[in-house]
Amino acid sequence: MPAPSSVAALILAAGRGERLGHALPKAFVPIAGVTMIEHSIRALSASGSFGLIVPVLAVCDFTRWKDLRLESIEGLTEPVEGGAERQDSMQAGLGQLPEQIEFVAVHDAARPLVAPEDVRAVVSAARKAGAAILGKRVRDTIKRVVDGLIVETPARDECWAAQTPQVMRRDWLCEALAAAGWAGRSGTDDAQLIEWLGQPVQIVEASFANPKITRPEDLVLAEALLAERA
Ligand code: CTP
Ligand code: MG
Repeated sequence: MPAPSSVAALILAAGRGERLGHALPKAFVPIAGVTMIEHSIRALSASGSFGLIVPVLAVCDFTRWKDLRLESIEGLTEPVEGGAERQDSMQAGLGQLPEQIEFVAVHDAARPLVAPEDVRAVVSAARKAGAAILGKRVRDTIKRVVDGLIVETPARDECWAAQTPQVMRRDWLCEALAAAGWAGRSGTDDAQLIEWLGQPVQIVEASFANPKITRPEDLVLAEALLAERA
């Protein structure tokens, strides 16, 4: 089993947060007085699972980054410049990792409530199985819909909502990105790339709420969840 020094986390924070419609870029919007990117970094750091934590930001946010108080976070690097789409940002971060990194955890800064225990669990599963993501069983019945018509109702007990961190062997991720590039495909998450490669991806059920902050009402929910945890 590799030591944590061979496991890196990429924190994707280069998006604009258009659906949130806040005056600040999404990763820098505060929840309970702390920016989302800081919440995410502190949770990943507290898990003790990573030798390296690499933030991926839009260049226009580098000055905002300098104002954060993160000197005490061990293994935190300078920010890497992201790209136009989420997958471009992930690839930009991946390209900056030193050679000794064997496992990569990709985490959205837009999931600031992730619990260190859950991070530890998903990293540990990936180190055993090669790839694992955090997720949650869905409560709603899921319908697959094409042109306004239901074409399939997958068994609800087999349906999960995918979250981050998504953790995988670095060589699988690099191989999967190359294969997706040749095929002209891009995934809506990182696990999908590994699935296309034909490698197994485990899902680990999150024990704590880990919502993605997308719309203004999600901020209200996040504040309430944090207040409850405190
Ligand atoms: N992300 C990124 N680079 C991009 C696009 C997204 O690093 N080019 C990151 C976001 O910062 C976020 C995560 O990917 O942490 C998930 O994306 P999403 O929730 O869609 O965030 P945004 O793209 O910022 O929001 P929106 O789509 O509403 O603009
Ligand atoms: Mg987006």
